[in-house]
Amino acid sequence: MWPSDVIRIKRDHGELAPEHIEAFVNAAARLEGSGWEKYHLAALLMAIYLNGLSPAETAHLTLAMANSGRRLDWSDLEGPKVDKHSSGGVGDKTSLILGPLAAACGVMVPMMSGRGLGHTGGTLDKLEAIPGFRVRLSAEEFRTALRRVGLALVGQTADLAPADRTLYALRDVTATVESIPLITASILSKKLAEGISGLVMDVKCGVGAFMKTLPQARALAESLVRIGIANGLRMRALITPMDVPLGYAVGHTVEVIEAIEVLKGRGPHDVRELSVLLAARMVELAGLAEAGAAEQKVRAALASGAGLDVFRRCIEQQGGDPGVIEDYHRLPTAPHTATVVAPRAGFLTRMNAEDVGLAAMLVGGGRQRLEDDIDHAVGILCRVKPGQAVRAGDAVYEVHYRDSARWPEARQRLEASFTIADVPPAETPLVIDEFL
Ligand code: URA
Repeated sequence: MWPSDVIRIKRDHGELAPEHIEAFVNAAARLEGSGWEKYHLAALLMAIYLNGLSPAETAHLTLAMANSGRRLDWSDLEGPKVDKHSSGGVGDKTSLILGPLAAACGVMVPMMSGRGLGHTGGTLDKLEAIPGFRVRLSAEEFRTALRRVGLALVGQTADLAPADRTLYALRDVTATVESIPLITASILSKKLAEGISGLVMDVKCGVGAFMKTLPQARALAESLVRIGIANGLRMRALITPMDVPLGYAVGHTVEVIEAIEVLKGRGPHDVRELSVLLAARMVELAGLAEAGAAEQKVRAALASGAGLDVFRRCIEQQGGDPGVIEDYHRLPTAPHTATVVAPRAGFLTRMNAEDVGLAAMLVGGGRQRLEDDIDHAVGILCRVKPGQAVRAGDAVYEVHYRDSARWPEARQRLEASFTIADVPPAETPLVIDEFL
């Protein structure tokens, strides 16, 4: 069948057969000799974006994309392999906390993370703030890390789900990113290739997330659970709010410090509680405990310092300086600090996570394109969060920056990012909804 015939089926709201989907995915993984051109791929992406995919088509697309490259096999390592993935937010450092906590409870966590893009942060970038920490491990190093520590925090290798790399790049330039079936297949194909048996999805919802509304977030969470299960994964998806940054720190050094603080039994309440909850779901999916007992296990790992110990061993195993745990000065620091202050007294009622993320990007802590360099030392500390009282002149943000030329635009964005009123706002729940 010609590529144009496949495109026509979807254009006319038809159902793609498995062989149509496979031809499309094989071409995305290896265009040469496939009979497809990039414009065929892009046209089919747009037809899918406009007319959707059935659950059966989405499940098949996911599997075909997972099979487009190497699939990791951990069968020689005993124990359940479970990962967590977030759809992307601001100040979300939970992976640095829940990975060690879940591993301390007996879960094997082969966590493949991404880099930050736009206003959102990425786990790999945060880890690279730790001097020496290597997120690129050979297959053998990855296996050794998992065997010794129970946790490996690495970047995606080029041979995993290669069809997704081509399709994601095309979606980026053809306005076809925001499609539930395409996002589902993109995320889950990489997770299936990672060789896990269970996945906890944290679907972020709000102004600082890709899913801005609750119906969108619900549709994505439902789709991820359904398609994950159809492909043999044990799944949980939580919808969590992302209107306000998670915790107080947004950046790299500052987020690593906040994560370590949580592992030391301190740190912000929202970061700690969300990390505990997500780690408990991982323990449950791993079959190591039922719901209530799983949470107790995770809290015990936090209280005893077992989670912190796993993080220390993980840093050591991946070439990083474990001394950062005791001495935060070993992390990169920015030369300048400035504050953005409250213009009046009252209660903070709004703090726009997207604006804070963009301000962190503007001072050099984020990237517009994946190939951009970032500065790990810069970052933003929220000194207050919505619900807290301020006096006129109190600092709302403390900004760590290097390049003075970048500061004014970031300051403008931060000044517009919050609202102060006479009455406090309603409390935000930790979790909005959960799908299993
Ligand atoms: N993250 C992914 O990996 N893929 C998408 O399509 C969207 C977010």
